[in-house]
Amino acid sequence: MRKAYIAGNWKMNMTATEGREYAKALLAAVKEKGADVKMMVAPPFVTIPAVLEVLKDSPIIVAAQNMADHKSGAYTGEVSPLMLKDLGVNTVILGHSERRQYYGETNEIINGKILLALECGMDVVYCVGETLEEREAGKLEEVLASQIEVGLKGVDASAMAHITIAYEPVWAIGTGKTASAEDADSAHLFIRETVERLYSKDIAENLIIQYGGSVKAGNVKALMAKENIDGALVGGASLSVEQFLPILTFNK
Ligand code: 13P
Repeated sequence: MRKAYIAGNWKMNMTATEGREYAKALLAAVKEKGADVKMMVAPPFVTIPAVLEVLKDSPIIVAAQNMADHKSGAYTGEVSPLMLKDLGVNTVILGHSERRQYYGETNEIINGKILLALECGMDVVYCVGETLEEREAGKLEEVLASQIEVGLKGVDASAMAHITIAYEPVWAIGTGKTASAEDADSAHLFIRETVERLYSKDIAENLIIQYGGSVKAGNVKALMAKENIDGALVGGASLSVEQFLPILTFNK
């Protein structure tokens, strides 16, 4: 049985001051209502310490949205996984489509980051997903297969317990367009089958696959009802407690 895993990716939103207040409000709301899922928020780097002050000993994981592909050195503007670990951050989102699209991250670069994160003892949420152009050209499976094959190259079977995959069709991110629950489920099934082909049935069955792309209180139940959808990676709707709480408590 896979435990639902719901995460909020704040992207480039929330100052440290705003993040601290948000974290207090979210924690209070979750304590009051009770949540029965694995929970995570991913603030911007500079907001992480303020959020951690509030959430450190709570059930809400604080993750990073990205990290460098080296441990240290002359990489101006980058943040090392060792710096994150030192703060107490043990989870990182890698390969988000915005990193791929705007910052030139390829499957190969992301693969290097995944291997480094695992070496540093971190859990990874690895984002995959096709663009509209790729979907319309019938390349969905080809794109997902290569993102998984290249992205996870060199990842040992024993490390797969530290990997969550987030399926985020690029055309559904921030657009208000959600993949139908059926379309999302069939992409998730394909991802699970690919992981089974590369690893084993057992690893594929235990793999948590989140869906991301315009997840909201109004569509989370239908998505989560699907066999292969085990969680959500939420952008816009994770930025207010009012909108995020009903997603975290979709099964209450
Ligand atoms: P939205 O929920 O705003 O569509 O963003 C999804 C996403 O990219 C989460 O990583």
